[in-house]
Amino acid sequence: DWTMAAYRDEAIRLIRDQVGDKQVICGLSGGVDSSVAAVLIHEAIGDQLTCVFVDHGLLRHNEAEEVVTMFRDHYNIPLIHADEADLFLGELEGVSDPEEKRKTIGRLFIDVFQKYAGQIDGAEFLAQGTLYPDVIESVSFSGGPSVTIKSHHNVGGLPEKMGLKLVEPLRELFKDEVRALGHELGLPASFIGRHPFPGPGLAIRCPGAITRDKLEILRKADAVYIDQIRKHGLYDEIWQAFVAILPVRTVGVMGDGRTYDYACALRAVTSVDGMTADYYPFSHEFLGETATRIINEVKGINRVTYDVTSKPPGTIEWE
Ligand code: XMP
Repeated sequence: DWTMAAYRDEAIRLIRDQVGDKQVICGLSGGVDSSVAAVLIHEAIGDQLTCVFVDHGLLRHNEAEEVVTMFRDHYNIPLIHADEADLFLGELEGVSDPEEKRKTIGRLFIDVFQKYAGQIDGAEFLAQGTLYPDVIESVSFSGGPSVTIKSHHNVGGLPEKMGLKLVEPLRELFKDEVRALGHELGLPASFIGRHPFPGPGLAIRCPGAITRDKLEILRKADAVYIDQIRKHGLYDEIWQAFVAILPVRTVGVMGDGRTYDYACALRAVTSVDGMTADYYPFSHEFLGETATRIINEVKGINRVTYDVTSKPPGTIEWE
């Protein structure tokens, strides 16, 4: 696609102009956006780039290992694996308000980047994979009144005290364009096709207060659900699919015994850019089979529901 090739060359030129001979650190989430940003910036300035992958303890099953392997071994991009789970989960303890969660996570991301930036000589820039919808959704919604629906973890500029300037080479792009750019940069199709994963991670799929127990249950249920979707060949038809663990326990029966465990909700939507979305019309067979598998394979869940809300009026994530 010649347009994307031209975009890429122009973006590389702009990054070089902006950065000069200074060092850049890039926040890597493992998602498509920050990965495309990192590979693009690496093409522009090579080893002036160091990636920082913040493991906030809110990642999916095996996610940290996969990201670290891909960037270190496959791309040879210098990567710091920041294991900050105790910090994030500690600060989030008892926090149940969605905006408070998001703001806490946003603040900690900045603290952590600042800490690692301080360890890199000459670091003057922080790169992020912010997209156009991130920018507009944080200030308004569908052209409506200017009201904050959700504070995205990576939007709103950096506090002065951080002393880093922002590099956001994807700020004008929509998701499909980022994927086209990723393709242009030679990222594997399987990686480019990954469902989006939000910066606040599992925190916003765990309504109410977050506990390590709930996160562990959520990870297991999510892995079974995604496995089901892949086995049925549906992964690429769906924009995003995930499990949310609900802050409610319900009574069930298993064998001869009573259970009293968490309920969860499955979410799957189709969308072009995440701004609007329709729930995915799974067959009843698929839903029934998936519910049975989750309840049999995941200790701690005894009830499975399917979220049939489109966006609007729902949002894709639960918080
Ligand atoms: P909502 O829930 O607002 O989500 O309908 C729209 C898309 O944005 C993702 N999302 C985020 N991504 N930081 C991110 O990087 C965030 O704070 C954030 N909140 C939502 C969400 O997963 C969906 O793809």
